[in-house]
Amino acid sequence: MNNRDNLQLYRLYAPLYDRLMRFWTANSRRKAIALLDLKPGEQLLIPGVGTGLDLPVIPAGVCTTAVDLSSAMLQQAQGKCQETVGFGVMDGQVLAFPDDQFDAVLLNLILSVVPDGQRALEEAWRVLRPGGRMVVFDKFLPDHERSTAFRNLLGSLIRRLGTDPNRHFSDMVRALPDGVIVKDEPALLRGQYRIIVLHKPVPD
Ligand SMILES: C[S@@+](CC[C@H](N)C(=O)[O-])C[C@H]1O[C@@H](n2cnc3c(N)ncnc32)[C@H](O)[C@@H]1O
Repeated sequence: MNNRDNLQLYRLYAPLYDRLMRFWTANSRRKAIALLDLKPGEQLLIPGVGTGLDLPVIPAGVCTTAVDLSSAMLQQAQGKCQETVGFGVMDGQVLAFPDDQFDAVLLNLILSVVPDGQRALEEAWRVLRPGGRMVVFDKFLPDHERSTAFRNLLGSLIRRLGTDPNRHFSDMVRALPDGVIVKDEPALLRGQYRIIVLHKPVPD
């Protein structure tokens, strides 16, 4: 997957995405957002916001910045928010924000889609302030599981649909400090999808 392929695919998905994804991801989204423990006035970043299925769940008074590579997906998102949300076309692997800007970052179904999930995670971490919270809801290979030949074949087919089911979160998180994962729990499909909470430490 590269950005150009993703742009083409998600332009096609934009009008269909909510019908495909809304219902079976709804509970996990609510849970992921509750775990962010957002307060009014806080700054939230959502990289790869897509059609904005998360937006109606964000508590009132939170200042949300929502970015995505695909303007077609963002157009769908713009109709979904009652509150003021700042939208922008942006590559989640190269965020145009200064360090430590956001109180919270939500990474729902994006680390398995961008060409380089580790880079996108590190960028999100960079713009999160010390003491800030990050939540990831996505599908990953279980950490102890190596990909089998069957799974590789399945993965190469699914990648053509714009998402990679064979990534390990443990590979992506490697460059972050130890001990930042405070929760990692199964969400959907018997743990293929997980919700992971990370807290950025405050330096001594
Ligand atoms: C599976 S959708 C998830 C959308 C949304 N986060 C959700 O939970 O429904 C993946 C999204 O990632 C976006 N995307 C793909 N590559 C990207 C990149 N390099 N930077 C930012 N967004 C990207 C796609 O346009 C698409 O909207």
